[in-house]
Amino acid sequence: MSTSGRDAIENLSREDRVFPPSAAFAAAAAAGPGIYAEAEKDWVGFWAKQARERVTWFTPPTVALDDSKAPFFTWFADGELNVSYNCLDRHLENGGGGKVAYHWEGEPGDMRTITYADLHAEVCKFANALSDLGVRKGDRVALYMGMIPELPVAMLACARIGAVHTVVFGGFSADALADRIQDSSVKVIVTQDGSWRRGNVVPQKASADAAAGKCPTIEHIVVVRRCANEVAMEPGRDHWYHDLMTGASPVREPARMNAEDPLYILYTSGTTAKPKGIVHTQGGYLTQVATSHALVFDIKPTDVYWCAADIGWVTGHSYIVYGPLANHTTGIIYEGAPDMPDKDRLWSIIERYKATIFYTAPTAIRAFMKWGDEFPAKHDLSSLRLLGTVGEPINPEAWMWYHRNIGHERCPIVDTWWQTETGSIMITPLPGAVTTKPGSATFPFPGIGADVFDEEGKSVPFGGGGYLVLTRPWPAMLRTIYGDPDRYVSTYWKRYPGVYFAGDGCKRDDEGYFWLLGRVDDVMNVSGHRLSTTEIESALVAHPAVAEAAVVGRSDELTGEAIAAFVTLRAGIKGDADLIKELRNFVSEKISPIARPKSIVFTDDLPKTRSGKIMRRLLRDISEQRQLGDVTTLANSDVVHAIADMASAAKQD
Ligand code: WTA
Repeated sequence: MSTSGRDAIENLSREDRVFPPSAAFAAAAAAGPGIYAEAEKDWVGFWAKQARERVTWFTPPTVALDDSKAPFFTWFADGELNVSYNCLDRHLENGGGGKVAYHWEGEPGDMRTITYADLHAEVCKFANALSDLGVRKGDRVALYMGMIPELPVAMLACARIGAVHTVVFGGFSADALADRIQDSSVKVIVTQDGSWRRGNVVPQKASADAAAGKCPTIEHIVVVRRCANEVAMEPGRDHWYHDLMTGASPVREPARMNAEDPLYILYTSGTTAKPKGIVHTQGGYLTQVATSHALVFDIKPTDVYWCAADIGWVTGHSYIVYGPLANHTTGIIYEGAPDMPDKDRLWSIIERYKATIFYTAPTAIRAFMKWGDEFPAKHDLSSLRLLGTVGEPINPEAWMWYHRNIGHERCPIVDTWWQTETGSIMITPLPGAVTTKPGSATFPFPGIGADVFDEEGKSVPFGGGGYLVLTRPWPAMLRTIYGDPDRYVSTYWKRYPGVYFAGDGCKRDDEGYFWLLGRVDDVMNVSGHRLSTTEIESALVAHPAVAEAAVVGRSDELTGEAIAAFVTLRAGIKGDADLIKELRNFVSEKISPIARPKSIVFTDDLPKTRSGKIMRRLLRDISEQRQLGDVTTLANSDVVHAIADMASAAKQD
């Protein structure tokens, strides 16, 4: 119970399994338990120390945090640096040019090995090519590309000359690209002729052309040849990447950037509203992503680290490109789908490169569960020593599946909570220092302040649920929403004055572990109980027949809202009326009778965003038999119609 008498969100479930790090892992870990107290003594000083030790500055900063214009905070504001210098040149100067930066694998099976020296030369050349096209410090460049090596090259080339990149996920439509270009007045697009997706060529350049047609600010389009499909090239405007690179010099001085100059804009779609251009800057961002990458992933010089996210999302920005390269890490990039040519592709990649660290999303793990244990079992995964997850709450049973089938009960799992807006991992275990519990992101990273508030802004005591807030500024925080500072203030800093409102539900258990409960927009109100989706979904996933579940509230005369569940079964299991009954009782017994779903619909798939998050908003529309809302960010549009048909066929009490 909270101090105000009732919880803003109820705490339904309990998890008693605990997983301490092995003595051997803890002894060799980059961070031990003492780091929390050290950071707590002087959290601003902690970040200032990381900035000194992990970043090479042209002009070291004399100030760390400036909160005089809060919530427009700055960090290290009088420092000067270059992010591409930090990711590349300084490693070459230390004799590290021969180390592999990326093992890259294309979907069709082609491979490239790119050393730090290779990447440096390519980045300098492309920086020169962009300059020759008229790109200057502060100009915006849209990178509309898939997972090819030229994407990190283009990001670092922008960083080298002080241009601001905005990566637009390669799977987005021409309209989505055009909206983003218009919002930030982009001058140049870098794209590719086509991209591979499940053996097909997606005509990327054609979409870029369609977008450019609506965007008068576009002066040039640079095209990487990837699929050798036919493309139209407009003379004067369009250029082949390889032509520009042939003549370009591999020497380019890195620009001296101010720590608070923008590094990139990344759009988050939110659910319905206009996308928000999240602005990240240089010095604080690099400091925190380098620190978190090193400590959360316990990075050693010999690691082969694989973050399997898309570079089009913030996870790829921070943990495929900037953090790992700043730390001189060897990474893996895979271009295509996880089931091409078969459902063991990712495990074959881990085996081939002897990956030591693997970081992916719960949605992917649930797909692996659904496909079956035999696919990872075919491969030697013994090189792995650490696993991670990001993007959604992970159901405890999915965590256990990952632990057993991928980690072979040997690898710690770091469940990392953060957002595009936070830039960096914020709530997470440190793998050698924290005992984990399946489904909990555990504790705030050293130096980070987080709390759980009730409706009135009071801290909810341990054992209760409410709204996650961040109580201190942090170096990698967003600085504003591009072109809309008022929206920045109203979205994040209005609900509770002086603290950052994350928009996620959260509870803490009796030991203070944080358990994320999903977006607050999805909270249901059943007979006056405020229920999060996460715990009910996790109860369903705990049943051996279930791979994935989503629940939503639909209006109900008796209870205000009633719980409607959508369930995907594991391979080979058929859903029938008996199973529906069994699952409803299972949830009731496992967590609470108030959480018992009123209806259950079986479905082969759930509507997801392109980054894999379940879109409960559309399931609510289906449950209420409403016209479907905005589906532009939906990855799999057929599925909602299929579910709608099944839902109307399956009326249950
Ligand atoms: C959710 C992704 C629970 C959360 C880096 C957050 C999580 C949103 C976790 C941000 C996690 C991310 N546990 N929920 N470990 N990680 N989320 O901007 O709702 O794509 O607010 O950034 O994802 O998504 P975004």
